Amino acid sequence: MKKLIVGNWKMNGSLAANQSLLDALKLAHPKSTDACGVAVCVPAVYLAQAQALLTGSALKWGAQDVSAHEQGAFTGENSGAMLREFGCRYVLVGHSERRQYHGETDAVVATKAQRALACGITPIVCVGESLAQREAGDTMSVVKGQLAAVVHAVGHCITEVVVAYEPVWAIGTGRTASPEQAQEVHRMLRNQLLAACGKASSTPKILYGGSMNASNAAALLSQQDIDGGLIGGASLKAQDFMTIVSAAQYQ
Ligand code: PGA
Repeated sequence: MKKLIVGNWKMNGSLAANQSLLDALKLAHPKSTDACGVAVCVPAVYLAQAQALLTGSALKWGAQDVSAHEQGAFTGENSGAMLREFGCRYVLVGHSERRQYHGETDAVVATKAQRALACGITPIVCVGESLAQREAGDTMSVVKGQLAAVVHAVGHCITEVVVAYEPVWAIGTGRTASPEQAQEVHRMLRNQLLAACGKASSTPKILYGGSMNASNAAALLSQQDIDGGLIGGASLKAQDFMTIVSAAQYQ
């Protein structure tokens, strides 16, 4: 399966810093390849800048959240239709920071995935267990339940999403899941998606996220069911991000 590497800038950046980062990425990844797709998910206020700089390039861009509502009195939110106008190819939904700091439930995350699909944007559905859940032996049931809510809501459109497994204890901590730990969860997710999709050829990509960096990317990406990465901290440095992209290209 073609790999996909997505940067999640979180709440970082400035017009000047974004320009130099995106210029460097365009230079390093001038052509799209069959081996690996590359995208950056930027803060919503920088979508216009991403659109201006990346249109016509091999890089795609996206947002980090989408409203569960179509339009109306939802101060501060951005609708799927708005994101679409700015050329978003992807949107993160259910990132653990949204679940944790903004109280997003599985049901809200599932509705957001539906909204994105309705607007022609691929939702990157994030799932992952906390440290306490892992230590209690609940990893598989937690992650399975998070994905099941989305499968239930989007039905046959599940083939059009991307899933990202991000153990919460590995995000921004420098503590990565081992390739074997990640593969074990990815395999379970693959089986769950296979059951939902019916045929193997149409199962969504499953990305790994959580302290993936230039030195550990190759080992993670070589696992059978790891189809790419969702990269936070390391996506802010052009060289580190491109090293991860190269690691994905040579799997
Ligand atoms: P990290 O973040 O790579 O900085 O751990 C990943 C993410 O939150 O998507």
